[in-house]
Parts: sequence; structure tokens; C-alpha cells
Amino acid sequence: MTEIAAIVLAAGKGTRMKSDLPKVMHRIAGRSMLGHVMDNLAQLKPSKLVVVIGPGMDDVAAEVAPHPTVIQAEQLGTGHAVAAARGAVGAVNGTVLVLFGDAPFVAAETMSRLVARREAADRPAVVVLGVRPADPNGYGRLITDPKGNLIRIVEHRDADAAERAVGLCNSGVMAIDGGVLWSLVDAIGNANAKQEYYLTDAIAIAQRMGRSVAVVEADGKELPLIGINSKVELAEAEAICQQALRRRAMENGVTMIDPASVFLSADTVFGRDVVIGPNVVIGPGVTVGDKVELRAFSHVEGAAIAAGALIGPFARLRAGSKIGAGAHVGNFVETKNAVLGEGAKANHLSYLGDAEIGARSNIGAGTITCNYDGFVKAKTTIGAGVFVGSNTALVAPVTVGEGALIAAGSVVTRDVAPDAMVVARGQQVEKAGWAVKFRAARQALKKKP
Ligand code: UD1
Ligand code: CA
Repeated sequence: MTEIAAIVLAAGKGTRMKSDLPKVMHRIAGRSMLGHVMDNLAQLKPSKLVVVIGPGMDDVAAEVAPHPTVIQAEQLGTGHAVAAARGAVGAVNGTVLVLFGDAPFVAAETMSRLVARREAADRPAVVVLGVRPADPNGYGRLITDPKGNLIRIVEHRDADAAERAVGLCNSGVMAIDGGVLWSLVDAIGNANAKQEYYLTDAIAIAQRMGRSVAVVEADGKELPLIGINSKVELAEAEAICQQALRRRAMENGVTMIDPASVFLSADTVFGRDVVIGPNVVIGPGVTVGDKVELRAFSHVEGAAIAAGALIGPFARLRAGSKIGAGAHVGNFVETKNAVLGEGAKANHLSYLGDAEIGARSNIGAGTITCNYDGFVKAKTTIGAGVFVGSNTALVAPVTVGEGALIAAGSVVTRDVAPDAMVVARGQQVEKAGWAVKFRAARQALKKKP
């Protein structure tokens, strides 16, 4: 096995996005476009992986850390961007994969196919991934000779009518012989419509050097949209990706009552026999155990939901929520950094933040953990088998011992011993017949002129 190195180009400003956010940081299914590329690439275990970014793109550098980044000071084209990575990549005894940060749907399998083709007996200097988009506008076209051999790539802007009629396009992904990469890059000029250094020129240059080139065609593993350049394409990509994620989830046994209204994230993990109602949104970082039911209109992110739990309708699970097996989180209940033990229930109208709730405890309707004093967050700990009456305010930091009972409407400010009963509310005062006298007095007042 020879070495595989990778260069991901992400320095473009993405002018067509009309955004302050670097293009590759825009998210699809809860993950940045660049994140999708990096995750797929990671499956090939490259020996070196360098990301080319623009000046000031600290957020992009943070996104790919610990992988190194190099800064392309001026965006003079994809060939120029690869050249910027030269020092960081150095000599590669094998294949260098070049990928674009704005092409998130290139499957790891496809990347491997490209490497394998590059390392086949005829040793092509460059292998390019060809795609046939429904609308080839804007893509570079793969120009072949009458025998179907690739001769060059022509960018859309530089192409004539006959070339624009070609349906086979450049995906942007290339596998290049590490031994010739830098001499190819050195030979790229900028005599074209945009006066940019096009990496695509490497195809014609390699052949002038007497080396062969090859095309590998995408085979349906890729989602249909390749390069994402605008907000419209971003939304199309999101829709395509969502559809694929839902399909995969259903193929793995998830029941969806109205799939088109469900949103998933690229990293969502489902167990068996999960049921998802209409209009459920699942953000990043969610794992859903076997036989969990996510009822309609629930919004879940950064949460681990154990087997058999019942969530929603209208529940909101935020980051750090850990819902135990068989637990219930009902309508208008919000959890954040909250652990609910096995079989615990919070069925109605609650906020549980920075809290730990023991197994089988029941959180009454309207219960709130007061976890924030305007400056710092504090924790509420509730033991197992606790009954928290409706409309209780738990002023954190506070601990309620196992088996305790809290009367409805309590404001709990001090720790509660196990098995104790706490009432922390105004006393009920009753005055017999008071209402009769009150009504008579008010009526008399009303009659006066
Ligand atoms: C590019 C290809 C085109 C292909 C299409 C597929 C070239 C010359 N053109 O066109 O053949 O069909 O992608 O989507 O390669 N980048 C840099 N530095 C630069 C310029 C670009 O890092 O100086 C990065 C961008 O961040 C982006 C990628 O390279 O991730 C592609 O650049 P972009 O400007 O989007 O190229 P396209 O015009 O889409
Ligand atoms: Ca592009």
C-alpha cells in the first residue's frame, strides 16, 4: 500500500453565498459542508490532511483542528490553492486526493475508488471524478477524444457551445500522483476568462508531460448536487440530504408517520423500532435508543435518549439531556444538561436545567429548576422515587433526598432529607362566610350615585 495524502480546498470566500460566514461553514443536516468532507475523508485514514483556508478564517481552522491548515493569502484559483499547501504536504510517495470544501456529498467509497484507479497498473498521473448533474451549468466539462479518453477540462466560462453541450462534468475531486503533483501545479498558468490558476489544467499538462489521465464516474453513491455555491443550492442540498437521511433511517427500521416533515442530522443514531411523529426536528448530537417514541413537534439536540423513553408531543430536549430508559418527557417540557433516571417522568410544562433526577421520580406539572441567578448556573439533584408536586420551584443549588415528597406550589430553597415531606408555600387561611359579607359590601358601594 502506498501513501494517501489529502488537500481540502476551503479558501474561497463564497461570494455567491452573500454571507459573512465562510462558504464551507454553512451547515447541511447540522454539520458544516467542510465537516461532511472531513468525516468522509477520515474513513480513508490519510497520512496527511491539509486544509487550505483564507486569511482570517479562524472558525474554519477550529472546525478542522487538529488537522493543520495553510493560508492562501489571495484566492487566485484552485490550482493556486493547491500550491499553497505544498510546504505542509511535502513529498508524498503515493496519491494526493484533492477535494473541495463546498462538495460535501462525495462518499468515502468514491474517494477510495479514485485512489484505486490512480494506483492501477497503467498509473495515470491524474484521476478525476466525473459527474452528470441534472443541470451542468457552471461546472467544468470533461472533454474527451472520439475514443472517450479524457483530454482536458474546460471551465464553463471558457467553454464554447459544443463543449457546453457535454454532460460529463468535473466534480472537483482529483487523485493525483504525489510524484508529479508539484511539477503539474508549477506548470499551471492563468490564461483564461477569470485569470485564475485552474487545477483542472493539470489534466492537459499531465498529457503534455507524457503521462496518462483517467476519469472515474460517480455511480449513484453521491447525492446529486455536487458543488454548493449559493443559498438556493444550500437549501436544495439540505432537502436532498434530509431525504437521504430519512430513507436510511427507515431502511434501518425507524417508523416515520410523515417523513417529509421530519428533520434529522447527519450524526443522528437510531436504535430499532423507533417511532417518529410528524414535525419532529433532531439537531446534532442525538442518539435514540430502541423503542423510543418521539411524538409530534418535539425538538431534540445534544441528547441521549435511552430505550423505551417517550418524548413529546411538543417536548424540547437541549444539549446535555440524558433521558433514561422508559422515562417520559411530555408536552412543553424543556430539558438542558439534565439527567433523567430510568422511568422518571416529567409530563407537563416544566423546565429542568442543570439537573439530575433519580429513577422513577415524578416531576409535577409546572415544576421549574431555578438554575440561574443572572450570573452563574447551579445544580438541582433529586434522588430516586421523589414526588415533586405541581408548580414547584427548585432554587438551585439544592438536593432532594430519595423518596421525599414535595407539596405542590413549593419554593424549595434548602436541601430536603430522604423520605421527608416539604411544604414551602403560603399557608391556606379560611374565613367562614367572608365572601357573603364581601359581596354585600361591594354591592352597596355600587348602588351609591
Ligand atoms: C470548480 C471547478 C469546476 C468544477 C466545480 C465543481 C476549477 C477551476 N473549477 O468550479 O471544474 O466543475 O468546481 O463544483 O477547479 N478555492 C480555494 N482557493 C481559490 C479558489 C477556490 O480554496 O483560490 C476553493 C473553494 O473554497 C471551493 C473550491 O476551491 O471549496 C472550488 O472553488 P469554486 O470557486 O467554488 O469553484 P467552481 O467555480 O465551483
Ligand atoms: Ca464550487
